[in-house]
Amino acid sequence: MRSGRILVVGGHGAVGATVTSTLGAWYPERVLPAGRSRGVRVDVTDPAAFGRVLDGLADLAAVVLCVEPPDPGVARLCLARGLHLVDVGATRRLLDGTAALHDLATATGATAVLSVGVAPGLTNLLAARAHRELGGAADRIDTTVLLGSGERHGEDAVRWTVEGLARSAGGARSARVELPGFGTRTAHPFPFSDQYTLRAGLGVPDATTRLCLDSAALTAALFAVRGAARHPRVRDLLVRVFRRVHVGGDGFALRVDALRGARRTTYTLTGRQQSRVTGLVAAHVTRAALAGTLPAGVHHIERLPALAGIPEALAADGVAVHGPDRDPADGAHPGRPDGGCPR
Ligand SMILES: NC(=O)c1ccc[n+]([C@@H]2O[C@H](COP(=O)([O-])OP(=O)(O)OC[C@H]3O[C@@H](n4cnc5c(N)ncnc54)[C@H](OP(=O)(O)O)[C@@H]3O)[C@@H](O)[C@H]2O)c1
Repeated sequence: MRSGRILVVGGHGAVGATVTSTLGAWYPERVLPAGRSRGVRVDVTDPAAFGRVLDGLADLAAVVLCVEPPDPGVARLCLARGLHLVDVGATRRLLDGTAALHDLATATGATAVLSVGVAPGLTNLLAARAHRELGGAADRIDTTVLLGSGERHGEDAVRWTVEGLARSAGGARSARVELPGFGTRTAHPFPFSDQYTLRAGLGVPDATTRLCLDSAALTAALFAVRGAARHPRVRDLLVRVFRRVHVGGDGFALRVDALRGARRTTYTLTGRQQSRVTGLVAAHVTRAALAGTLPAGVHHIERLPALAGIPEALAADGVAVHGPDRDPADGAHPGRPDGGCPR
């Protein structure tokens, strides 16, 4: 196993705190939480200073990014130094920019893993499974993400969500979807990065990811103000409101349907506290990178067979995976969800 220390940028945030504590238990005294105000002082908006911090830390092996930088400059600095990179970011533009650094990572022997977390992350892994179940020939993937509005989501994640409201998620329609433990919900197209990167990564022509909250009323309110969210001041207001309003629980649910003509394969997953589970996924990915089981280069999580078992590895943390459920049912898989067909 490669030794060395691990810098967790945003290591005291909602996601980063779990990364810090989990890796800290696995690698005592090798984990360095970082941020602007606590731990190792770094600012991802200042690449020159970030590079100096990297150069000043002896025996650094990996960087876990638990906050989104404005551009892939921070990723470039890490990979140029041969440092492994685990990125929980969910913005397509940034992920595409980091993916373009594949040759650099290959040259330095570093591994970068993108699409790490719940969505993207676990959604990518379930989508790849469902796609494989259809012989690697799915022509559509529909993903639904239900988040608990009672969870204290981190500010960075709430801002990302509010900014996503203002962006178009393409021409897909809202859908009524059956979700384990939550009944049938209306979910709305939302610009999660997985639907874009999966199209290219799996070669699926059509992919849509939809979002709803456990509170149907809050879901309706959120999407009703979608147009107004184009204004920066409204977005600031919404971030403040959504950080204060905690009307639901902290459970989340995922559902991935892969379709090939009339055939459908479905996987579902449930858990509690998406920030914590995102941090746990990042910790597992970091452990695999440090163990040397991942190839050099920049990869989305679903492209790395060594990471395919992460959903099951989270069972002790309360994550439950169900599937594959097939439609038309072949008799071998009872427990098929009743209905729940997006569109
Ligand atoms: N893939 C997924 O499923 C998934 C799920 C949830 C969240 N996320 C992503 O994870 C990231 C973190 O979310 P979160 O909920 O943990 O947010 P958060 O609680 O606001 O945490 C962000 C952390 O980053 C630090 N930070 C903020 N700006 C920084 C900067 N310019 N330079 C260095 N550090 C900075 C903050 O500490 P200081 O104030 O001390 O700097 C804080 O500790 C977001 O980008 C979000 O989109 C992904």
